Amino acid sequence: MVTWDPAPRRAEDSAVTLSQLMEVTDANVLGNVHGGVIMRLVDTAAALAAMRHAGGVCVTVSVDELSFLEPVHVGDIVTVKACVNDVGTTSLECGVRVEAESPVTGRRVHASSAYLVFVAIDEEGRPRPVPQVLAETDEERRRRREAKLRREAKLRREARMAHKEAVKAARAAEKG
Ligand SMILES: CC(C)(COP(=O)(O)OP(=O)(O)OC[C@H]1O[C@@H](n2cnc3c(N)ncnc32)[C@H](O)[C@@H]1OP(=O)(O)O)[C@@H](O)C(=O)NCCC(=O)NCCS
Repeated sequence: MVTWDPAPRRAEDSAVTLSQLMEVTDANVLGNVHGGVIMRLVDTAAALAAMRHAGGVCVTVSVDELSFLEPVHVGDIVTVKACVNDVGTTSLECGVRVEAESPVTGRRVHASSAYLVFVAIDEEGRPRPVPQVLAETDEERRRRREAKLRREAKLRREARMAHKEAVKAARAAEKG
């Protein structure tokens, strides 16, 4: 049986940066880079940060936000930065920032931002606990605070949905 080190880990230690040149095969019908190409890079970078932090396999359970802020062009160098913002018991929220740079003109834009949730799993594919995250800088503390707010808001939304469904089911049962 594998055992995982439960000691808290610094956010900085699991941060990931991936860079990739965007090629013609990455283009959509408009000639810009296909959103799906960016999404794949976002998921990969975030998963690597989650796995580094958890010290084992993590799977994506939710893409909570993914914004495309600027188009990315063929020939751009895309840099994807991901880090663990906060953890629950078995889940981890990762934040991702995507920048695109033209090596020809030097133009650099913030192209995309995303928040994804991963769950660390054991050899049987069951959720397993992850180490706490040590947020040491003001920015890391802000990220952790905001991740907690997103998690709480999501739980409230889910509770509201469950309540709505329960009311619907009760009314349907009353009608017979
Ligand atoms: C990951 C998986 C094992 C979790 O199983 P589960 O029965 O949902 O587990 P739980 O309900 O105990 O939830 C585990 C954690 O995930 C979190 N979670 C589950 N679904 C979530 C969602 N949609 N959004 C955010 N968090 C979620 C729970 O809040 C819990 O967090 P915590 O332990 O930090 O409090 C299961 O959902 C799974 O195998 N999913 C498929 C993952 C996959 O294949 N990903 C690739 C996508 S292509």
